Amino acid sequence: MANKRPEIILALDVNNRKQAEKILQATGDKLIWVKVGLQSFLRDGPDLVRTIADSGKKVFLDLKLHDIPNTMAKAIESLSELPIGMLTLHAHAGEEALQRCTQTGKEVLPDTLFLAVTVLTSMDQSALSSVGVQSTVLEQVERLARLANQSKVGGIVCSPHELVHLRACLSPQTKMITPGIRPAGSPFGDQKRIMTPAEAKQAGADYLVIGRPILAAASPALALASIMAEL
Ligand code: C5P
Repeated sequence: MANKRPEIILALDVNNRKQAEKILQATGDKLIWVKVGLQSFLRDGPDLVRTIADSGKKVFLDLKLHDIPNTMAKAIESLSELPIGMLTLHAHAGEEALQRCTQTGKEVLPDTLFLAVTVLTSMDQSALSSVGVQSTVLEQVERLARLANQSKVGGIVCSPHELVHLRACLSPQTKMITPGIRPAGSPFGDQKRIMTPAEAKQAGADYLVIGRPILAAASPALALASIMAEL
């Protein structure tokens, strides 16, 4: 049976608010999910999140929280007034922190899907070794994903290369979100563990996070349409 079509999440990593609004207009109604990451959130703040939500889109707030348990939980409380569909935590923060976050999330952001980031898709084996991790990338991703699962984090962010392996180790309802997506011919940039949209679908992704292949295209609308057609 063919895998279901993953949803596209546009990573809104742009240099200013005007550019953000331009790209949102250009991509139109077909785009449902928008990821607001550090670059945009630190500049435009909660107002950008509200503007996107008011335009009928869902917001994935990619803050990759990573701190001591109390600080992470309090940070989540600070976000409680915002319309956030998904929020990222670094699984590296550890089990106690993840559990505090999911518990706090249940209380203050009950409709938000919490995601654990495993090993960043910009890191390969040598980058992982250079920060002292002796396991293979796959072992480390699995370890962090299991930790997140045990801590009741609803979704995992991983590279498309780990999807098939993780599906077999995690609870079936776990959502799998994957960046590191590059349509054939797109420059890799800093991404290392990549796949095309069709390959990631085949591997079982629920959501594809895509930034530069859409943002840097001469026509972002056409680039999005072509990825949708590939899926
Ligand atoms: O431009 P590109 O398609 O590489 O954008 C990928 C997006 O996904 C970026 O916003 C990046 O911060 C995010 N991301 C990632 N790898 C992770 C988690 C998030 O690339 N492991």
